Amino acid sequence: MNFYSLQLLKKLGFKKFFNIAVLSILASIFELFGIGSIGPFINIVNDPSSVSESKYLQYFIKNLNIETQNILLYFGLVLIFIFIFINIYKAGLFYLQTKIALNYSAKMSVSLFKKYLDNEYYFYLIRNSNELAKNIFSECQLIGNDIIKNALVILSQVIIAIFIISFCIYLNPALGLAMILFGVSYYLLIYGSLKKWLKKFGESQLYHSTNRWRVITESFNSIKEVKVFNFSKHLESFFLSETNKWTNNKISYALVVTLPRFLIEVIGVIFLVSLTLFLINFENEKNVISFIAVYSFAILRLFPVLQQIYMAFTSLKGAQSRIKLIYEDLNNKNLSNSKKNKININLNNSIEFKNINYKYQKGNFQLKNISIKINTGEIFGITGQSGSGKSSFIDLLLGLLIPQSGKIYIDNKEVNLKDYTSYKNNFSYVPQDVFIFADTLKNNLTFDFENNLPDETLLKKTIKKSNLNNFIDNLDKGLETPMHDKGIDISGGQKQRIGIARAIYSDRKITIFDESTSSLDSETELEIMKQIEENKKDKIFVIISHKKSTLKFCDKIAFFKNGEIERVSPYNEKDSYFKNLSD
Ligand SMILES: Nc1ncnc2c1ncn2[C@@H]1O[C@H](COP(=O)(O)OP(=O)(O)OP(=O)(O)O)[C@@H](O)[C@H]1O
Ligand SMILES: [Mg+2]
Repeated sequence: MNFYSLQLLKKLGFKKFFNIAVLSILASIFELFGIGSIGPFINIVNDPSSVSESKYLQYFIKNLNIETQNILLYFGLVLIFIFIFINIYKAGLFYLQTKIALNYSAKMSVSLFKKYLDNEYYFYLIRNSNELAKNIFSECQLIGNDIIKNALVILSQVIIAIFIISFCIYLNPALGLAMILFGVSYYLLIYGSLKKWLKKFGESQLYHSTNRWRVITESFNSIKEVKVFNFSKHLESFFLSETNKWTNNKISYALVVTLPRFLIEVIGVIFLVSLTLFLINFENEKNVISFIAVYSFAILRLFPVLQQIYMAFTSLKGAQSRIKLIYEDLNNKNLSNSKKNKININLNNSIEFKNINYKYQKGNFQLKNISIKINTGEIFGITGQSGSGKSSFIDLLLGLLIPQSGKIYIDNKEVNLKDYTSYKNNFSYVPQDVFIFADTLKNNLTFDFENNLPDETLLKKTIKKSNLNNFIDNLDKGLETPMHDKGIDISGGQKQRIGIARAIYSDRKITIFDESTSSLDSETELEIMKQIEENKKDKIFVIISHKKSTLKFCDKIAFFKNGEIERVSPYNEKDSYFKNLSD
């Protein structure tokens, strides 16, 4: 077991392992008892007179009033019951092991989801969201199986093996030792020579399964482009080739883990036949048969146990890269906001950026020397070419990205936004592309998923202000209408109005619109802008736009160019910049 598997095991708690260990020891004792009772049974079959030689059997016969000729029948029945009991017990043990493993998978996927969600926004810029989904969904499931179940298998099977081995050594020390030495070194040799291959197998399995997952999610997320540009053939063949590689890899793995079993079975039989032939020449024939019977049974039990231990180890080795990945994600402290100041930070009058600089980890884009002050009561416009850094600036304003240098003042007091989780509560935000959740329209407007007790008067006002009345009146179920998971059912403009309604309903101090009126007809847009103007007295509105009709309403406008603010000035009809803009 490697470091990562052990660490993940530790999280489960050792008490459960202790319980399973105790139950496994009991299983071995029962198993041994079962094996041990086969010898006497064969003895009686072989020589019924031997009953009289056994004191114990005589004792039972006398006390239970059993007739001597029926002893075989009774003994047989007892043997059957012993094995029924052993197997019911083992089934129960298997159930417990499976339960622990699957519960662990479930627990791990829930904590991983939480861990990912609690990360800073920055985390999502550097990680692929499809991969995160796959880790939560499929890797955790596999790991539960790989580590927990295999560790339990190793634990219980090693105990069983020790019992069987001790029994064989007790029967005949030299023979027992020789057998165990052979069995163990056989599997160690195979495992040792496959170690490197198993690691590579694990890495390539992870690689191909990530690719398979990625192509599926990307296909469905871009289904319109796929249809229009007609590249489904390319996606299909990529998926096919990745699936083939993944499957072939798995077939090789299945062979590698199973083949040793066939060989060792043959070797076991050769060993037994030679042993029988050898012994029969030296020993009393009667003793030999029961000895061989017990030995064959022990060997037939021991080799599958060794095989299981071997398979558990190979499976752990094969899963190593996956285990490492999940372990690192679960334990990564840098990316989560664990130590945040719980103090509320309320913005009352203004927010100011002074000489703020920000550079993305990837790429060369930089926001340079951003200095800007936004006051309550203002509609603050932001404009500039595509790629000039407007959305990046908004991410800094929202506290989603943390600047590398410069100062931020709230109500003229310097603050380090990194220290406050509650800072974001000052904002509502309407993004460029509004996301619709697979829930009712009402919950999509209020985000009140849990209580479902929205403020009805505020909701009514919101619907009016965001011009959604007509849209809702035309729906059979009105506000209770379920929305499609990706909002395919509704138009771009309707989506934007839902986004705007969310912002109005949440009633925060600062509202940010990132080109949120681009899909609206001019009449609707005008009405919404008028609403904003009426409500601006004790609020701040920050609006990114390229449209004259929107920028007209702004008290100040910041002009972005190549990551810098060129100037901040009020709207002016005659300004040459606006001449080139559309209405
Ligand atoms: N996560 C990121 N990592 C690296 N570079 C990024 C990242 N996000 C954006 N950029 C780069 O930052 C620059 C500014 O992007 P931004 O989205 O801020 O522009 P924008 O002004 O909002 O443009 P648009 O009007 O098209 O929305 C772009 O050159 C973009 O490639
Ligand atoms: Mg943008």
